[in-house]
Amino acid sequence: MARFSTSRELLFFLTHPTLWFRQPLSQKSLHADPFVVFEQWYNQAKKSLSGEFPNAMCLSTTGTDDYPEGRIVLLKEWSKEGFVFYSNTQSQKGAALSAHPKASITFYWSVSQRQVRIKGDVEFVDNSTADQYFSSRPRRSQIGAWASEQSTTLHSRKELEDKVIEYEEKFAQQPIPRPDYWTGYRIKPIEIEFWQLRLNRLHDRILYKKTSKESWTKSRLSP
Ligand SMILES: Cc1cc2nc3c(=O)[nH]c(=O)nc-3n(C[C@H](O)[C@H](O)[C@H](O)COP(=O)(O)O)c2cc1C
Repeated sequence: MARFSTSRELLFFLTHPTLWFRQPLSQKSLHADPFVVFEQWYNQAKKSLSGEFPNAMCLSTTGTDDYPEGRIVLLKEWSKEGFVFYSNTQSQKGAALSAHPKASITFYWSVSQRQVRIKGDVEFVDNSTADQYFSSRPRRSQIGAWASEQSTTLHSRKELEDKVIEYEEKFAQQPIPRPDYWTGYRIKPIEIEFWQLRLNRLHDRILYKKTSKESWTKSRLSP
């Protein structure tokens, strides 16, 4: 009982098996390359979250009115080049990213009580990457990309459904091209923070900051 200051904490520990054998985070034990750590954490979340969205992340941008804006998008590709999601460039986030091409993405995997926070500069993926991804999507999602003027006001649900019918007819019996306003955004990280829950709110936080093309510094942050 010594580790637990209340019976609630003891209960929390007993009902969260991931805490039983897990190593605490330390600057020494974490790999020098934050992408290696991200891959381990992401794969672990993927394994245990079958059927859910381990790739769901909160994308935070600075709006054209300078207020912060957050929404969930899905991570579709990632590499040392950055973290990619797809969207409509004419949407609210599209306008925000065009005015301020900087963003933050935040993952929370409740199954492992871990958070990853990434901040960076944003660029478009190239057209052939976007074409390839668009062509891999189900036909109905492709129609949806044409039918939805994302973030604009609809007067009724029917207005949207009529657009779907219009584009289904327009593209009947032919491959659906990618709309030129629909593409991928890549966040090129300058900071990546790994957060892992520990008891008594004394969590571990390790922040990586990019210093040059391949090199990162690590520091521990107060929880
Ligand atoms: C689980 C989940 C996944 C989503 N994935 C995407 C996505 O990959 N791309 C996207 O544009 N919107 C996605 N959305 C919808 C966005 O959260 C948001 O409603 C939409 O992009 C419009 O945002 P905006 O008006 O700020 O541009 C997703 C929503 C949820 C809940």
